[in-house]
Amino acid sequence: MLRFLLTFVFASLAANLCRAQTIEGQYDCLPAGSFTLCQNLWGESAGVGGQNSTLISTTGNSISWATNWTWANAPNNVKSYANVLHNTAKGVQLSAVKSAPTSWQWSYLTQSQGIRADVSYDIWFGKAQSGSPATSASSYEIMIWLSGLGGIQPVGSQILSGLNIAGHTWNLWKGPNANWEVLSFVSANGDITDFDADLNDFFTYLVQSQGVASTQFVQAIQTGTEPFVGSADLLIRNFSVSISS
Ligand SMILES: *[C@@H]1O[C@H](CO)[C@@H](O)[C@H](O)[C@H]1NC(C)=O
Ligand SMILES: *[C@@H]1O[C@H](CO)[C@@H](O)[C@H](O)[C@H]1NC(C)=O
Ligand SMILES: *[C@@H]1O[C@H](CO)[C@@H](O)[C@H](O)[C@H]1NC(C)=O
Repeated sequence: MLRFLLTFVFASLAANLCRAQTIEGQYDCLPAGSFTLCQNLWGESAGVGGQNSTLISTTGNSISWATNWTWANAPNNVKSYANVLHNTAKGVQLSAVKSAPTSWQWSYLTQSQGIRADVSYDIWFGKAQSGSPATSASSYEIMIWLSGLGGIQPVGSQILSGLNIAGHTWNLWKGPNANWEVLSFVSANGDITDFDADLNDFFTYLVQSQGVASTQFVQAIQTGTEPFVGSADLLIRNFSVSISS
């Protein structure tokens, strides 16, 4: 009986470890190894449609996940930011960051005609060591767009073009949002589907050339996608990030 029970317990455990988990609700989140995977369908009421996000696997500072979305109406409104947030790569002052290696391999498995969406980092800086993204604790929102399809634009206006950072060329956009400033690096040469960089190259540039105080703390590093309209299956084959100080 005991042996039967144990076999049963281990079999269910193994099945659980292997089964990809999907979340569907507006603000559903899932613990995902070093990360937290969240749907964050914050703009869904502007449109019609839906989205779900699936955790595929995690190891160390790496994660594989996918998100499946269909959104219509309000083509200029972001419907969601399905994302992963690293649970511990944060709380470090910019002046103390030695390196912040990251790599990201992704692709659209399917996409409808004319999708409007970005695939982006969303990195939050603030005066305090900790603070949740997009709150009164936020001073800066730093976006890095590895993709921006369908003519979408970041917050504010373009202030620079042809910036070379981390082996790629970027256009830089800047503008205010709520109580924080948004600076967005947009790939100038189309989709970067295999990205390998040190985020500290961006941080150093922001301190040296954009007036960001080196006393600011990295409060959060998120990566995900902001869909506006269309439908797609986005696969994050492998994303990883860490900070060393
Ligand atoms: C959610 O996932 C299922 C497959 O697992 C899919 O059939 C469904 O269409 C998805 N919903 C949306 C809105 O994409
Ligand atoms: C994504 O959603 C579509 C329907 O919107 C469905 O046909 C497809 O199977 C889904 N893909 C995955 C990987 O769930
Ligand atoms: C994911 O990327 C990290 C960092 O490049 C690497 O160490 C790891 O082996 C990769 N994982 C897979 C499953 O490819």
